[in-house]
Amino acid sequence: MQAKSIIPFFYVLLQCHFWMMVIASDKLDVVYQWKQLEYEWPSNDTELLFPGYKQEDNLPLGLEITSTRIFVTVPRWRRGVVASLNYFYRNDTRRSPNLIPYPSWEAHQYEAGSVPEIISTFRIRADRCERLWVLDTGFTDILDSPEQQAPPALLIYDLRDDRLLRKFVIPEDQRTPDSLFANIAVEDYSCEDTFAYLADLGGPGLVVYSWKSEKSWLVKHHFFQPDPQAEEFNVSGISFQWTDGLFGMGLASTNDGYSMMYFHPLSSTMEYSVSTKLLRDPERATSLDNFHEFHALGSRGHNGQSSVSFLDPNTGVLFYALASLNAIACWKPRNMFKIEQQDFIYVDNVTMVFPNDLKIDRNGNIWILSDRLPAFMYSRLDPEDYNFRIFMGSAKKAIKGTVCSMNSSSISNNPYDSMIEENNVHPKRLKTVQNSGYVYNSGLISILITVITLFVRTFI
Ligand SMILES: *[C@@H]1O[C@H](CO)[C@@H](O)[C@H](O)[C@H]1NC(C)=O
Ligand SMILES: *[C@@H]1O[C@H](CO)[C@@H](O)[C@H](O)[C@H]1NC(C)=O
Ligand SMILES: *[C@@H]1O[C@H](CO)[C@@H](O)[C@H](O)[C@H]1NC(C)=O
Ligand SMILES: *[C@@H]1O[C@H](CO)[C@@H](O)[C@H](O)[C@H]1NC(C)=O
Ligand SMILES: *[C@@H]1O[C@H](CO)[C@@H](O)[C@H](O)[C@H]1NC(C)=O
Repeated sequence: MQAKSIIPFFYVLLQCHFWMMVIASDKLDVVYQWKQLEYEWPSNDTELLFPGYKQEDNLPLGLEITSTRIFVTVPRWRRGVVASLNYFYRNDTRRSPNLIPYPSWEAHQYEAGSVPEIISTFRIRADRCERLWVLDTGFTDILDSPEQQAPPALLIYDLRDDRLLRKFVIPEDQRTPDSLFANIAVEDYSCEDTFAYLADLGGPGLVVYSWKSEKSWLVKHHFFQPDPQAEEFNVSGISFQWTDGLFGMGLASTNDGYSMMYFHPLSSTMEYSVSTKLLRDPERATSLDNFHEFHALGSRGHNGQSSVSFLDPNTGVLFYALASLNAIACWKPRNMFKIEQQDFIYVDNVTMVFPNDLKIDRNGNIWILSDRLPAFMYSRLDPEDYNFRIFMGSAKKAIKGTVCSMNSSSISNNPYDSMIEENNVHPKRLKTVQNSGYVYNSGLISILITVITLFVRTFI
């Protein structure tokens, strides 16, 4: 009897384990993946125009989604990059679609004595007014022999006809020799009066650009600085030190034409906030006595360095990538920024290694690009393995069962309430994960225990 029942017992366990795995990871799906990037060369002659092309130098980094296209940036980390801004169509049914340079092949071509229209962009943003904002670092061959080929610039395209609407060069007095403009957020409540926030992680500083006045100004603050205690990153066995300042920016509308900007430096575990009402006022934003208008919210804890973040306007939740933890996490701004009030929505030590961009589209879907950047920079990517992935899933579903899905009415700073929360709802608590790696959420463990109990009752 004992021996006979042991087989179904393991069978049930196995089924249960499988089901748990599905639940644990079904919040996001890998929709595209590449071992190495391929371009959609129109002809062999085109290839001749890019003599330096080396496939292994091409690594995807930034992501943007429009109704018909998916944009992917490929910064010029090394010399063999074809084009630093590309797209493919969403109706492309291949799992590893080929990239098409944007807005054209010519816009990326080096000709004797001149630089291309787009030199090297890290991140881009499509606004709700059908414009694509491209933040060009002007910086190439970063890993081997770095060269500032042109000053950093903002290029804005019309997505309806891919025409360049405007190019704005970031003024010299708003940057430093260490500048690297790696991230952009766009506040587009008004198409005529749009603002772009350009994060300079090297400065560090924040350049605010007004579409209407065609001017920009530099905002400096101590909260943009890297934290010397958070400069060490450990990503899948590779350890390195980065001293990067202002990076992640999420804009939460305050329903008065302005936003609360949640931001953090890359080499930091802290999250901060500032109102765009301040940032958009060139006088006040650059004044030295604005210190108290910036707020320190709290920490993500040990190994909690975050790269990109994005605030979902539908759920009001801030989603952010945890670079050293192969994870995507969430936090609802109505809550305090405490570790207990942050949650994981996705963790995977194979597929989510170095989540590098995160966007939420107009249908409420979250999109994430992961690319194993540290291995590309400090070791070597295996060309036979899937190295680059794009994930997609509903933001609403992603926060289900996490602290981020609670109603604002049930959120309070009442210690009794937080005690209840503590004991009931939260799966995959950040605190737990940081101490002991990825654990299944307690709800599923109790289901497992129920199943085992049922089994024991039935078979023994
Ligand atoms: C392009 O080159 C490949 C291999 O180098 C060759 O097989 C193919 O026929 C060429 N195509 C054209 C249109 O010349
Ligand atoms: C895919 O979408 C693009 C743009 O919407 C369109 O031009 C193209 O014809 C479509 N291709 C297919 C195979 O449907
Ligand atoms: C990173 O890993 C190294 C070696 O594996 C270790 O010595 C170091 O303490 C780790 N750093 C952090 C911040 O965890
Ligand atoms: C949140 O509040 C709304 C309206 O008060 C209610 O209908 C909904 O069920 C609540 N959701 C949760 C998860 O409590
Ligand atoms: C995932 O990686 C983290 C950090 O490297 C480690 O602490 C954790 O144990 C790993 N989890 C699994 C399930 O391998």
